[in-house]
Amino acid sequence: MGHDGEGQDGGRARCPGAGWDDLMKADSRRPPEFMVEDAYDYMGSEPLAAARYTSPEFFARELKSMWPNVWQFAAREEEIPDSGDVVVYENAGRSYLVTRQADGSVRAFHNVCLHRGRKLRLDSGWSKDFKCPFHGFTWNTDGSLKEIPCRWDFGHLESEQMALPEAQVGRWGGYIFVKEAEGGPTLEEYLAPLPDHFRRWRHEDCYTAIWVAKVIPANWKATAEAFMEAWHSVITHPQILPFTGDANTRYNVYGDHVNVALTPFAVLSPHIDPAGKSQQWIVDEFLKYNGRAGGDDLKVDVPDGVSARTHMAAVNRERYTEMTGRDHSEATDAELLDAFTYNVFPNFGPWGGFMPNIVYRWRPWPDQDRTLMEVRILMRNTAGQPMPRAASMRRLADDEPWTAAVEIGALGGIFDQDMANLPYVQDGLKASKSGLVQLGDYQEIRIRHFHRTLDKYLARFG
Ligand code: FES
Ligand SMILES: [Fe+2]
Repeated sequence: MGHDGEGQDGGRARCPGAGWDDLMKADSRRPPEFMVEDAYDYMGSEPLAAARYTSPEFFARELKSMWPNVWQFAAREEEIPDSGDVVVYENAGRSYLVTRQADGSVRAFHNVCLHRGRKLRLDSGWSKDFKCPFHGFTWNTDGSLKEIPCRWDFGHLESEQMALPEAQVGRWGGYIFVKEAEGGPTLEEYLAPLPDHFRRWRHEDCYTAIWVAKVIPANWKATAEAFMEAWHSVITHPQILPFTGDANTRYNVYGDHVNVALTPFAVLSPHIDPAGKSQQWIVDEFLKYNGRAGGDDLKVDVPDGVSARTHMAAVNRERYTEMTGRDHSEATDAELLDAFTYNVFPNFGPWGGFMPNIVYRWRPWPDQDRTLMEVRILMRNTAGQPMPRAASMRRLADDEPWTAAVEIGALGGIFDQDMANLPYVQDGLKASKSGLVQLGDYQEIRIRHFHRTLDKYLARFG
């Protein structure tokens, strides 16, 4: 094996300097085991075929073999609090009516009239029944047939056989999932071990406070993968390096469906020369990006001899307690500061930790070349208050930047930097002479992990 970058080392190399392990040891609280463990798994160093992102044939294989067999995040509970509330969830060639039932349960019906196939609803909302706007075939919100106009002409249709077809529904943490195909793993099996980790962060106590979306001219995987490693920060987001341990990120993978990047904040990037950089400077730069819990005018003075990280965590611990009426005394510094960007295969990305949580979702829109990217921000409901209804989705026009969504604050500028790459990723993948995509063994393991899982689905259900 030669110097840096020459020779196979089975993914053992790491960015030199203080890393995630050191931050865990320095935390003012005792971190739970899953934050300390190293769950990296070397999966080889083979390149990926660029055609996975660009070929209509590959996309068709995903539609046939992958999407019907995965659990998809379809809605949040607080989008449909009342009986008769409906979310129209559309993806990968299907359309569902995710519907709250009178008994509080949730069912998902295929949103297609069984007469001549019109979609029953185009928008989410409330309904006493599902009445087709074409000829008036009508279903109850439990999917049973209610009425066929001119019933005499349809003597050949048995009412009992005319219930709307249904998808599986699973619920966890305030999230509602659908799965088209029958059987397969339960939602709990599919998500493991994510619900164990999120037990501390309780997304079931959160609500969608902000929701912004935009169609991105790139493949859905390429778009999702732009959020799977922190490493691109050094070139794409240089302005966050003063407070981001980009290359000190811990990458963990679990089973087939879950992985996470734990990216520390309130520390200097290893790409920045620490000479002359004070702890106060780190905090000041972090506060330009809100410091996770700061308001616009928050000033934080770091006492002598205290690290930016320890002090900012203490500030956030107090502010979260104030904002939510919930006790945060046992919360680790990491959970109050850092980016815990989880992904659930194939297209769902909920952030862990105690901050207002970002939640991503990526859907092909409608083919291999375009993606609807959604960003939600979940806020913790104040203890003892009724759960607010979800904010509705604001969809940016194709020519609107993310900064036009002022509600997402400083995140807008960061997303615009990410999106500035993506159209040229898609174009480049199509123009590629090598036809190959190379991945870092460690920092890009989450991308490799998801492609490996995708291949398993294509093989199993192909
Ligand atoms: S297509 Fe729906 S009632 Fe005719
Ligand atoms: Fe980014």
